[in-house]
Amino acid sequence: MEICIIGAGYVGLTTTAVLAEFGHTVYCIEVNEKKINDLKRGKVPIYEPQLEELLQKNKEKISFTTDIGESINKCSVIFVTVGTPSREDGSTDLTYLYSAFDEISLWLTEFKTIIIKSTVPPGTNKSMSEYLAEKGISVSLFNIVSNPEFLKEGSAIYDMFHPDKTVIGLGNDDKVSEAILRKIYHRLDAPFIVTNWNGAEMIKYASNAFLATKISFINEIARVCEEYDADVMEVANGLGTDPRIGALFLQAGIGYGGSCFPKDLQSLNYSASVKSVHTPILEAVQLINRTQIDSYIKKLGEHLSLLKGKKITVLGVAFKPLTDDIRHSPAIDLITRLHTLGVDVHVFDPKAHLPLDKRHFATQHKTLKSSYLDSEAIVIATDWPEFRRMDWKHVKASLKGILILDGRNCVDKNVVEQHGLVYKGVGRR
Ligand code: NAI
Repeated sequence: MEICIIGAGYVGLTTTAVLAEFGHTVYCIEVNEKKINDLKRGKVPIYEPQLEELLQKNKEKISFTTDIGESINKCSVIFVTVGTPSREDGSTDLTYLYSAFDEISLWLTEFKTIIIKSTVPPGTNKSMSEYLAEKGISVSLFNIVSNPEFLKEGSAIYDMFHPDKTVIGLGNDDKVSEAILRKIYHRLDAPFIVTNWNGAEMIKYASNAFLATKISFINEIARVCEEYDADVMEVANGLGTDPRIGALFLQAGIGYGGSCFPKDLQSLNYSASVKSVHTPILEAVQLINRTQIDSYIKKLGEHLSLLKGKKITVLGVAFKPLTDDIRHSPAIDLITRLHTLGVDVHVFDPKAHLPLDKRHFATQHKTLKSSYLDSEAIVIATDWPEFRRMDWKHVKASLKGILILDGRNCVDKNVVEQHGLVYKGVGRR
C-alpha cells in the first residue's frame, strides 16, 4: 500500500520505518524543514534504538518530504502523528492536529482513510470528522479511524513489531476502514480491539493513567517503607507475583515524566472535569509525582548539611534510559531544584542534553568519569544501563564525598557499600 505519515517525530518515524519494513511505500511529511533535510541525508534527528538502521534498510521504500499535496495524491491512507501537547489549564493543544487537517483538506479529491495515531482527548475524532464536513468536504471522500499508539520510547521499534494489541476506533461501525487497518498491519501477531472513536481514545488515556497510577502507588508505599524499615523493592517483588497486580511498573523512584504521562493525565483530568466528573485518583497520582523529588532533596540536605556551593553530580538528563527525550524529565526538575538551591551541579547523560534555556543550570560533561570528579555526591536520576554497572572503585577514588543517592533503585546497594560509599535509595531499608 502507499501510505502517507504526517509528523516525523518519535511516533511518526517509528511508524514510517515499521510500515516500510512491512512492505508498504511510505511518504513521511514534516513541517520542520531542517528535520526533513537531515532525514533525506540519512541523519535521524532523534535517538531511538534500531530506528536509524531500519530507516536505512528500507530507504528505497521511504520518501521524506515537506510536499504534502504530492504525497496525499499518491496515497489512499494518511496517518496523522503530530504532537498533542498540554495547555496551561491541562487541556490538550490540538493546534498541530488542526493544521494537519487543514492541509489534508486541500488535497481531498479522492477517497482517503485518515488514521489519527496521535493521542487525542475523547471526542476529537468525531470533531475532526465534523471539521472536514464544515469545510465543505463531502463525507464520501474520507473515513476517520482512531488508532492510538502504545509504543514506549527506548523500545519503540520492538514495541511496534510486537504490540500486545492494535486498537481501532471506528465511526459508525465502519467495516471498510477496519479491513484497511487489518491489511496495513497484516504482519502483526496481536489481537485487534475494535471499538468506536471515543472508546479508542479512552483506552489510550486509561492505559497511561493506570500505568502512572502504579508508579505513584509504589512511590507512596516507598514513603511508608522508609518509616518502617521495610524495603520497597522486596515489597514490590512480593506484590508483583500476584497476577492480578503484575510485576511491571512497580519500581519506586523520583517519579514519572516524558512526553506522555504528565500531559495525558492532565488531559484526562481536564476531559473529566468539563463533564463535572471528579477524579480523585488521577489527582492523587499527579500530586505524589509532583512531590516525589522533595524527599530526595531533603536526603541530600541531611547528608551534606548545607547544599549551597556543594558540587553534586546528577546522572541522567533524559526522562528514561535509551532515549534522548527530555520532555518533562524528572532529572531536569531535580537539576533545576539543585541549581535554585545554589548547588554546583554537574551532569552526564549518554544521549540527552539539557535544554538551551537550562544549560547554565549545570555543567554537562562528555564522559561519565569526568562528571563526578571531586563531587560531594552522585544522584542517579535516569537508570541508563551504564550507571548500573559503574566502576565503584574509581567512583570512590574520584569523589570528594561518599554519598550515592539512587533515585531509580537501579544499582546494587551491597556492591556500592562494599566500596566504602554510603548508599541511599528510594524506600530502601
Ligand atoms: P513529536 O513532537 O516528537 O513529533 C511530532 C512531529 O509532528 C514534529 O516533528 C512536528 O514538527 C510535526 N508536525 C506538527 N505539525 C505538523 C504538520 N501540520 N505537518 C507535518 N508535520 C507536523 O511527537 P511524538 O512524541 O512523536 O508524539 C506524537 C503523538 O503521539 C502525540 O499525540 C503523543 O502523545 C503520541 N504518542 C507518543 C508516544 C511517545 O512515546 N513519544 C507514545 C504514544 C503516543
